[in-house]
Amino acid sequence: MKALVTGATSGIGQSIARKLAKRGWELILTGRNEDMLREMQKTIGKGTEIIAADLSKREEVFRVYEFCKGKDVDMLVNNAGYGLFGKFDETDMNDELAMIDLNVTALHILTKLFLRDFKRRDYGTILNVASVAGFMPGPLMAAYYASKNYVLKLSIAIYEELRRDKSNVTITVLCPGPVATNFNNRAGVSFSVKPITADYAAEYALHKAFTGKLFAIPGLTVKLGAFAQRFVPYKLVSAIVYNVQQAKKTSDGQGKALKK
Ligand SMILES: NC(=O)c1ccc[n+]([C@@H]2O[C@H](COP(=O)([O-])OP(=O)(O)OC[C@H]3O[C@@H](n4cnc5c(N)ncnc54)[C@H](OP(=O)(O)O)[C@@H]3O)[C@@H](O)[C@H]2O)c1
Repeated sequence: MKALVTGATSGIGQSIARKLAKRGWELILTGRNEDMLREMQKTIGKGTEIIAADLSKREEVFRVYEFCKGKDVDMLVNNAGYGLFGKFDETDMNDELAMIDLNVTALHILTKLFLRDFKRRDYGTILNVASVAGFMPGPLMAAYYASKNYVLKLSIAIYEELRRDKSNVTITVLCPGPVATNFNNRAGVSFSVKPITADYAAEYALHKAFTGKLFAIPGLTVKLGAFAQRFVPYKLVSAIVYNVQQAKKTSDGQGKALKK
């Protein structure tokens, strides 16, 4: 069995890769950090292939797909992504567009191409990493939340198409709350609640993916939050999320992503 894992150099993606390797999977790992990819290859060993790529660039996404072609990939883990903090009119435009290219466009392209391959042979698993942010609007991280809404809703829709086709291909969407990774540093925030570990999120996601479940929402509080927000008007959810995000401001009082 072979899996492609994006964002395998850190955090949740690295944990998923290591857990898959322990289960005997062969891996194709990608990320931009070539040194870390080599390190992963060395420690995971046998059968691990690596390809350094910046997935915010469309041509690089297709290059990764071409690299995987003919290698009988059984599982796609669309994990690479990051967030940006700040008021929408103040966040850096280029950084934000690159984030959309990574969180949305790269995931969209890989999902479509691998789904076609998987459907052709009626076997395969897609694990898309969204976030609990996918269930709601996210003032002060507006574009990040919107990008995860895309990932979540796309995955739910594909699940239904596969179900109607009685396909053996499965899709699972991981929607964690805070996870202790490098995410915060990149986003320019600090968590206001205790995060779960990347290992826990990874194990939970793989369990749900291998049992064909659509949702993987680790942690009772996050599960309850994702459920309860359905019964609350958007404007009120948005006001609550604003307060939650405000509490995540870094000590210098501003997110890293403010206009340069
Ligand atoms: N941590 C949380 O609280 C949390 C909560 C909900 C959802 N998530 C989601 O979980 C996923 C993984 O994030 P994480 O928490 O594990 O954060 P992380 O430790 O920062 O890992 C992010 C991964 O994405 C890769 N990446 C970033 N930019 C990239 C680019 N342009 N091209 C290719 N790869 C790129 C990074 O690799 P390189 O630097 O080597 O490129 C790294 O492996 C993300 O989609 C994130 O939105 C995280």
